[in-house]
Amino acid sequence: MTDTTQPTLPSKTGFEKTIDGKKTNLYLLKNKNGAEAAITNYGAHLLALLVPDKDGKLTDVVLGFSDIDGYKKALSSYYGATIGRYGNRIAKGHFVLDGRRYDLFINNKPNTLHGGSKGFNDVVWDVTQSNDQSITMTYLSKDGEEGYPGNLNVKVTYELTNDNAIKISYEATTDKNTIINLTNHSYFNLNGVGSGTILDHTLQLKAANYTPIDSTLIPTGEIAPVAGTPFDFTKAATIGSRINNTDAQLKNGKGYDHNFVLDKHDISTPVATATGDESGIVLEVFTDEPGIQFYSGNFMSGSNTFLNGKTDEQRTGFCLETQHYPDSPNHPKFPSTELKQGETYKTVTIYKFSVKK
Ligand code: GLA
Repeated sequence: MTDTTQPTLPSKTGFEKTIDGKKTNLYLLKNKNGAEAAITNYGAHLLALLVPDKDGKLTDVVLGFSDIDGYKKALSSYYGATIGRYGNRIAKGHFVLDGRRYDLFINNKPNTLHGGSKGFNDVVWDVTQSNDQSITMTYLSKDGEEGYPGNLNVKVTYELTNDNAIKISYEATTDKNTIINLTNHSYFNLNGVGSGTILDHTLQLKAANYTPIDSTLIPTGEIAPVAGTPFDFTKAATIGSRINNTDAQLKNGKGYDHNFVLDKHDISTPVATATGDESGIVLEVFTDEPGIQFYSGNFMSGSNTFLNGKTDEQRTGFCLETQHYPDSPNHPKFPSTELKQGETYKTVTIYKFSVKK
C-alpha cells in the first residue's frame, strides 16, 4: 500500500533549549527544487532531509527525532550527528603522538568510539552563518578535552544544493599537533524513515579492498580484497543478499560495520551508490576521504521513536560514514590522521539524491 501522507520536518520548539549555558535551535534549509533539510546546532545534527521519490512525492530519507531529548536518549547511536574529534574506534583508548602517550575515555569497551564520553555530537556549536541553503557552525574543542591534545577550532558547513545534494564541508586548525577524523553519522532509509528494513536496498561501493576487524571492531591492520567475500559490493548488490552468510568478518561486525578502502577519492565520481527498492531514490556519495564505514544498523534495537512515530527497529537504516580508517593512530601504514600545528584540515563529503531512471 502506498503511503500518501506528506512527511513533516521537526518543529522548532523541540530544539529551543539551553544546554551547557548555550542556546540551541533548529535551522531549516530549502533549495530551489523543493528539497528541505533540518539541522540543529546541538551536536551539529542533520535532523531530516526531504527529497522527491520516483513519483515526485517528498520522502524523509534521514532518520531523526522530534526533539533534543530524543537525541540525548539515543546518544550512543549517533543518529545524524557530526562526529569528532576522532570518528570511529581507537583501540583500547590510547595512542602515541610525538613520543607521548594519550589516554582517551573507553565508551565502547574496550575501545574509544566517536570522540569519547562527550563527543562533538553532544556539544553545542556556534552558528556563525546561515541562509536558506546553508549553515556554518563552529566549535572550539579545548586542549585536553576528552584526552586529545591541542585547542582545535572546528568548522562544519551543511549546504543543500539545487541538485538535491547535502554537501558537508569540514575545516579545522590546532595549536598543538593532534589527531582528527571528522564524519557525519546520518542513517539513511531511501524508502523513507520507518518504512522497514534497508535489506532490499541495493548498494555499490567503489572499493576493491576493506579493513578486516577483530571481535571488538578494531582493524587487524590487513588490507584485504573483497573479491569472493560478502564484502564485494564492487557490482551493485542488495544489502541483505549476503548479510546472514556464515562469515567470520560478518560475525565480528554483527552484520556490516566495516571500513572500505576506496579505490579513488577525488570527489568527482561517486564512491558509493545506494537505491531504495520501493522509492527509486538513489543516493550517491562523493568524498575526498580514503575510507567509508558501511554500517547496516545492526545495533538498532527498536527502543527509540522517530519524528513520524515509527521505531528504530534493527537494520531499518544504514550509514555510509566517510572517514580515515579506524584506529589509524595505531596503524602507521594507514593514511595519517595527524593534524599538525599550523596546518588546516579540510575535507568534503556530498550525499546527492536523485531518482532511478
Ligand atoms: C558506528 C560504529 C558502530 C555503532 C554505530 C552506532 O558506526 O561503527 O559499531 O557503534 O556507530 O551504533
